[in-house]
Amino acid sequence: MLARCSSGALRGVEALPVTVEVDIAPGLPGLRVVGLADAAAQESRERVRGALRNGGLRVPLTRVVVNLAPADLPKAGPGFDLPIALGLLVASQQLAAAEVEGIWSAGELGLDGRLRPIRGVLALALAARRHGARALVVPAANATEAALVEGLPVWGAEHLVEVVALLRDPGRAAAPAAAVPPEPTLAAPDLAEVRGQAHGRRALEIAAAGGHHLLLVGAPGSGKTMLARRLPALLPPLGHQEALEVTQLHSLAGLLGEGAGLRRQRPFRSPHHGCSATALVGGGAVPRPGELSLAHHGVLFLDELAEFRREVLDQLRQPLEEGELWISRAQQRCHFPCRVLLVAATNPCPCGWHGDPSQSCRCGEAQRRRHWGRLSGPLLDRIDLQVVMRRPEAHDLGGAYREPRQQLAPAGEPSVVVAQRVAGARGRMGQRNPAGAANGQLEGPALAAIVNPEPDALALWERAISQRRLSARGAERVLRVARTIADLAGEERVASGAIAEALSYRSFDQAA
Ligand SMILES: Nc1ncnc2c1ncn2[C@@H]1O[C@H](COP(=O)(O)OP(=O)(O)O)[C@@H](O)[C@H]1O
Ligand SMILES: [Mg+2]
Repeated sequence: MLARCSSGALRGVEALPVTVEVDIAPGLPGLRVVGLADAAAQESRERVRGALRNGGLRVPLTRVVVNLAPADLPKAGPGFDLPIALGLLVASQQLAAAEVEGIWSAGELGLDGRLRPIRGVLALALAARRHGARALVVPAANATEAALVEGLPVWGAEHLVEVVALLRDPGRAAAPAAAVPPEPTLAAPDLAEVRGQAHGRRALEIAAAGGHHLLLVGAPGSGKTMLARRLPALLPPLGHQEALEVTQLHSLAGLLGEGAGLRRQRPFRSPHHGCSATALVGGGAVPRPGELSLAHHGVLFLDELAEFRREVLDQLRQPLEEGELWISRAQQRCHFPCRVLLVAATNPCPCGWHGDPSQSCRCGEAQRRRHWGRLSGPLLDRIDLQVVMRRPEAHDLGGAYREPRQQLAPAGEPSVVVAQRVAGARGRMGQRNPAGAANGQLEGPALAAIVNPEPDALALWERAISQRRLSARGAERVLRVARTIADLAGEERVASGAIAEALSYRSFDQAA
């Protein structure tokens, strides 16, 4: 007898429908899985047989063929265990075909029949709803994640036997899993803790408002990492759709905890400079998202930028520009979104002390030039804001501990205050820019159409281009940042003050 069950296979960030066909025919006992299944999916045979036997269910003693259709779509991972087991139960008449009709299922089985959580359940749930599933059955540990998809009944189960009871008598089952409240927002580090560094803080605000990539240059201990970590909290809260996308990507990477709800915080990812291209942009035999996609809608922080291998950084170029990337495999093309705000940090030279008043630099001119040579080029070319940070003076830091508590460098504004200005600027961009894009995403004619500079601002800009011999890209960058500065101030037109400030964030155009 032939039985059919529904499930899904992951391809990139999405899931596609898979029909699990189980055919029981006369012949020698055996179970074969066909249909482009990877090793983990092949091993389903053993887990399913064990789970049935130990769950007190019958294992057919004839020839069984399991076909995962369509045959040209690669199927990876252990998630097909559950639909294969259900198909076997229908084919051997332990369940009625009507009982699994329209039901999607996914989950890994233990030999004892227990259901183990799998990756990518949110993507599966979205696909199930899209294809009109009656309900989705998943391991209990994945139920809250699947329940984020509205309008799709989700049943979580601990054991195969529980699933069988549920399908036989849905009326007796507990209520479908409900979405849990989103994760609580943890207290993010606050901008107020950064003493002094007015220039750096301001650049962070502009980066957040306009979505401009940012480079921080400074000696060790100058607070580059400290500043970068405070960027996500300046960005507007994630919208529902954005939060779903972030949760979906983190689920694919297996980063969602058991019973986790919607991701509410903007991601902050900080890959090590020794990481591989695959770890950074994603990939693998079964493509999974890399750090770049895990930072989607958040911040990707590349600390010690000069230490990253050039060929690894080169892979970032196109995805950074497009906000998405495609990974091609022989059988398929996988899509991953990656709209990130890039913050890069580096020492000014190999020893780290060039330009620092407290210590002298030990590097030769040639070494410094090589250092900048490694940084320049395609990636630096996409960074709108460059900031030099000096190490805070000892008395600036000590102020926090001294009695009476007075600081020589004033405490900075708290993140919430800055975030309000950022939200205001983003609101203005949303109404004015094509498709509501942030200024940082605009270039060429689209940018030219919205800059709206005052005549003397334009004159200052032209003078600066010829004096500093800025490239066309560099010159455009100044306008883009100036537009964001005007938006932060709520100004219709870009004044010369905004151009002057924007020019102060291009200190490395010559050095590089
Ligand atoms: N402006 C500052 N205000 C307060 N503390 C600071 C400041 N700059 C640096 N620090 C202190 O110095 C430490 C090292 O800073 P860090 O951000 O790691 O520097 P970098 O990344 O530039 O090497 C921070 O953890 C913080 O305690
Ligand atoms: Mg650091």
